[in-house]
Amino acid sequence: MTGRERFLAACHGKVVDCTPIWIMRQAGRYLPDYRALRRQHSMESALSTPAIAAEITLLPLKHFELDAAIIFSDILPPLAGMGLDLSFVPGHGPSIQNPLRTPKAIDMLGVPPAQEAMASTLEAIKIVRPELDTRNLALIGFAGAPFTMASYAIEGGATRTFAHTKAFMYSEPSAWDRLMVKLSGLTIDYLNAQIRAGVDCVQLFDSWVGALSRYDYERYVKPYSHRVLSTIGKKAPVIHFSTNTGTYLDLIAAAGGHVIGVDWRIPIDQAQRAVQKPIMGNLDPCTLLGPWRELIPHAQDVMQRIAGQPGHIFNLGHGILPETPVENVARLVDYVHSYDHG
Ligand code: CP3
Repeated sequence: MTGRERFLAACHGKVVDCTPIWIMRQAGRYLPDYRALRRQHSMESALSTPAIAAEITLLPLKHFELDAAIIFSDILPPLAGMGLDLSFVPGHGPSIQNPLRTPKAIDMLGVPPAQEAMASTLEAIKIVRPELDTRNLALIGFAGAPFTMASYAIEGGATRTFAHTKAFMYSEPSAWDRLMVKLSGLTIDYLNAQIRAGVDCVQLFDSWVGALSRYDYERYVKPYSHRVLSTIGKKAPVIHFSTNTGTYLDLIAAAGGHVIGVDWRIPIDQAQRAVQKPIMGNLDPCTLLGPWRELIPHAQDVMQRIAGQPGHIFNLGHGILPETPVENVARLVDYVHSYDHG
């Protein structure tokens, strides 16, 4: 099977010749050639220059025999199109100067078409697609899920407690609804545009939704995620990724997605039983910082728990860390591809 066939078969729960693998944040700072490119271009210019974004997308494929590439972009630029003042502060991360704190601010937000607001990423997809056709690899597009996007828009940056987001959600339920409706509509349009531009599959990142209780997920988030996942799922396979949601993976799966992406806090077989769908994960990214002799049993544990059942895409449970040795990634990819379930 080609990488693309293997990856897409696993998305649909079909039998594969070996387990497909890609790595969240595979085009990132652990790669020396990525760091070299970023010394020449700011994050903003890399995101807004299609040729550079395309080049970065392809970098990890020079190092490893991955089955899929993910388009180089970020989940936050669509917020800039809505009117939020987003910047990527070197050494600090993303920051929004005018975070949403009032219902009025939400009503002022625009919902521009992705063709306009995200034109460079859509153009980068068109550049990368023929390259991946030549190599028979899948191309993954992505967007942030409504809750994770709302949390950045309201907090303005990283947070430990999500206090502003939750306080807003509880105090202003109708403004929260209007915000989540705007974000879902924007995300549906953006993911559709990525599919039209040539991606094979899309991933919806709800990275921070695990900050919520099961009750709040169902009440304040699930209807909006469901709208995005069910609409887009008719057009292409969708991976629904979240972290820290081990106690309500049944709800995450019910919200939608062909594949459910899980972190390392739950054993993958337990997650698989909870979701009853194809599954992606779930190695702790920190295992790649240890020696190979410790990495093997951790990777083996994931493979043994899956026991060769169809519908597994190997990945880390969250993004790869900048400190990761490239050599460990190369060995992990070979290990997963040559794993024999016996
Ligand atoms: O996976 C890939 O290689 C594709 C590109 C990609 C990036 N960000 C590039 C990036 C993807 C899929 C993302 C998703 C993203 N961005 C998420 C969801 C996934 C997750 O990790 O939870 C989130 C929460 C963000 C927001 C974001 N962007 C943060 C918190 C940061 C800074 C901290 C960090 O982890 O780097 C970014 C910056 C960012 N996005 C970088 C990259 C390669 C680093 C930029 C740099 O300094 O060169």
